[in-house]
Amino acid sequence: MTIKQRSGSLALFPPAVNHSMVSIAHLTDPHLPLAAATGRELMSKRMLGWLSWRLRRWRNHRLECLDAVTSSIRAASPDAIAITGDLVNISTRAEFTAARRWLQSLGSPREVMLVPGNHDHYTADATSAGLPGLAPWMSASGNGGDVDFPSVRYLGNVALIGLDSTYPAPWTEASGLLGEEQLSRLAAMLDDCAAKGLCRVILIHHPPLAELATSPRKALKDAEALRQVVERHGAEVVLFGHNHLWMHEQLPTRTGTAHLLAAPSASMANGRSKPAAGWQLLSISRKPGQWHISVARHSIEKRISGTSIIERLELSNVP
Ligand SMILES: [Fe+2]
Ligand SMILES: [Fe+2]
Repeated sequence: MTIKQRSGSLALFPPAVNHSMVSIAHLTDPHLPLAAATGRELMSKRMLGWLSWRLRRWRNHRLECLDAVTSSIRAASPDAIAITGDLVNISTRAEFTAARRWLQSLGSPREVMLVPGNHDHYTADATSAGLPGLAPWMSASGNGGDVDFPSVRYLGNVALIGLDSTYPAPWTEASGLLGEEQLSRLAAMLDDCAAKGLCRVILIHHPPLAELATSPRKALKDAEALRQVVERHGAEVVLFGHNHLWMHEQLPTRTGTAHLLAAPSASMANGRSKPAAGWQLLSISRKPGQWHISVARHSIEKRISGTSIIERLELSNVP
């Protein structure tokens, strides 16, 4: 599977909902438990990630927390689930098998839209290790095969636009890269969706602005070019992950305000250095002359028995 920079595709996904309000559950960075790795797989950058998991990360990312998040999402019955990457940790074959099984349990490719994170493309051989097995959840059609990025799915009045910000980064980096081709297709796609009167929701793993990265080595290398595309062509919402933090920033664009929204890792345990696991429910509706986006942010409770709403945002694309 080529998961990067093939011809962008439009209108392959029929509207799944017809009502005036569309609800999207956003979860990110589930970092499923480390699965078995072969000696051959570990003779690479994966060894660093393997050691990091064994020493520290296993305490951070807990399956019981992720289960509480997915149960809460199921109870909310959203129209779609958007996942902004980092399903796995070091891109091994066993991890991708587990990730595919987890996705199958979460929802069909028509219900769940995924973009990859840097941990899903940890090494150059991630594509031969099993990343293509996740293609049905990433493609515009939901049928798998080659995935064209940007990919778009229509959901009533909403266009979900998936970007691939991953590449096999150097050993010391968790950076991202979109590339000129993907960015130019994104610009055309944003214009096309605006002409169709759709609310444009972009999914990307890395923070879309350089200043939102927690360190330069974790940043999107062509963030400035992405900023220019969004400023010139407009978008209403950008969902992202990677930082494992709740974030909300606003970016003025030619067509109004773009809201940049991130959530913590969906598996983060309580009491760690990053916020506990959570997810956010976006309810998008068209009001006269504007888009209204209600956001309910859910976080796991102390006993991990469920989640509760910790914040509500009422957003509009009109400043
Ligand atoms: Fe992550
Ligand atoms: Fe990441």
